[in-house]
Amino acid sequence: MQADRDAIRILRRGKTVEIPDFSPTETLLDYLRLRDHAIGTKEGCAEGDCGACTVAIGRLDGNGGVVYRPVNACIHLLGMADGAEVVTVEDLATDDRLHPIQQAMVDHDASQCGFCTPGFVMALFALYHRSSPEESGRAAVNDAIAGNLCRCTGYKPIVAAALEACKAPALDGFGTIETARKLAGLDDDKSLFVGDETRFFAAPATIDELASLYVLHPDATLVAGATDVGLWITKQMRPIERVIHLGRVAALNSIADTGDALVIGAATTYAEAWDALTALDPDIAEVLRRLGSPQVRAAGTVGGNIANGSPIGDTPPLLIVLGSEITLRRGAQTRVVPLQDFFIDYGKQDRGPGEFVESIHVPKPGPHTQIRAYKISKRFDQDISAVLAAFAFDIVAGEIRDARVAFGGMAGIPKRAGSAEAALRGAGLRDFDRWTEAFDALVSDFTPMSDHRASAGYRLQVARNLLYKALVEVSGAETGTTRLVGYREHDDALRT
Ligand SMILES: Cc1cc2nc3c(=O)[nH]c(=O)nc-3n(C[C@H](O)[C@H](O)[C@H](O)COP(=O)(O)OP(=O)(O)OC[C@H]3O[C@@H](n4cnc5c(N)ncnc54)[C@H](O)[C@@H]3O)c2cc1C
Ligand code: FES
Ligand code: FES
Repeated sequence: MQADRDAIRILRRGKTVEIPDFSPTETLLDYLRLRDHAIGTKEGCAEGDCGACTVAIGRLDGNGGVVYRPVNACIHLLGMADGAEVVTVEDLATDDRLHPIQQAMVDHDASQCGFCTPGFVMALFALYHRSSPEESGRAAVNDAIAGNLCRCTGYKPIVAAALEACKAPALDGFGTIETARKLAGLDDDKSLFVGDETRFFAAPATIDELASLYVLHPDATLVAGATDVGLWITKQMRPIERVIHLGRVAALNSIADTGDALVIGAATTYAEAWDALTALDPDIAEVLRRLGSPQVRAAGTVGGNIANGSPIGDTPPLLIVLGSEITLRRGAQTRVVPLQDFFIDYGKQDRGPGEFVESIHVPKPGPHTQIRAYKISKRFDQDISAVLAAFAFDIVAGEIRDARVAFGGMAGIPKRAGSAEAALRGAGLRDFDRWTEAFDALVSDFTPMSDHRASAGYRLQVARNLLYKALVEVSGAETGTTRLVGYREHDDALRT
């Protein structure tokens, strides 16, 4: 085994910067503002919601190029940026020329107080780098800025600026072959360990090293995308002394397509898993489009969405109705658990000390399976679900042979509706009495909570309505009659 590396290395303005001295919980935003003096990047909410702190992270795309993703620097740990190019708003203009995004913002009067502007510019910089004439329309722009809040200018001029700048992106000096070469130079296979046994930021390079380190330090905090853990630091002020980051373990950052299933490494981000997951079903694509924002999806991981055990995580109900299983690993031992059994009770999962989620096995829907999924939240963009409903109906010759129904937000865990499923199993597609039995059964399946997102009564009513909507849709009614929004009518809309 090679010796560990004891400093992170990032690419800043074309130069490699080595950072040996940092606290395990230092955020990228604090590093940029307080140490790099890149104060163009702003701090608004410090919880990933406003986008003022957006910077672009450049990494190799696997095809010899560089991909830029927007991240919220306020909840991104500095150590997680190891091996990446970090681009901030002050890096974009050359001596005498603004970047096309900046110029368009000026031309369209798209800034007033200016506090949000650097974040918008960086979110759009990431869009600019993946835009093509086919993929630079209004829908792509709206999605790209879903994680950025502006309270005084209004979005119309910002969208106009983005549409103009992104319609024909030109070379802007970023993402060059030279940058790719430099990033490749940062990419070694050494494990990273900064600190000592009592206080450290570690990023193992292999899964075996990760497994050994976590057995040695079962009380360390595993960090994948830090879209939850970041808030423990910035909002809850939790003292976190030992961090093990999963981002450098190649085996956890991979997707394999076995033909009838996907095997997703637990630390695969939503953005990386996008193509594979959205291809499973248009409704899954629609839920993912509304999961957080581009910044959250660039960092947050599928495994983190499961391991955090949240009752309102968006992916668990979807993955449960698909029949997913997860592989857990402790040391050299692995075991496989059906995802639905992983969630035991609120805050309690089937995971022992030193054990981590290694991968998620997601069966693809078969030819007779109809999937429907709906996210109900107060805002359309960037909001946590009040209720997330997922349905998988196996339908043969007009009969529901099997029904898998799972909800988030209806219990302390993501949970299947066993009684409603039983009522539907074997029912004819238009057997309205059986439908009604299933609606009524939801009351025995769930005792939801009332909280600031929704009352228990609302949640039960909405669950009933969503089951009704799903049944109407799969029983043959025109999809368009039951939907205000959704990819089932807009097949041009799949995008990251
Ligand atoms: C602004 C904002 C909006 C959001 N919107 C949504 C939304 O719409 N829908 C939604 O579902 N979520 C949302 N979230 C929550 C968050 O993005 C997800 O829960 C995310 O999936 C967590 O993944 P992560 O990789 O960032 O996890 P982290 O924050 O890194 O970790 C979360 C927890 O999981 C543990 N963990 C991570 N990976 C593993 C592993 N492989 N094995 C064992 N333990 C592990 C960590 O130790 C920690 O306890 C939002 C968050 C923010 C900040
Ligand atoms: S400061 Fe609001 S998202 Fe980071
Ligand atoms: S310009 Fe003031 S918040 Fe956007």
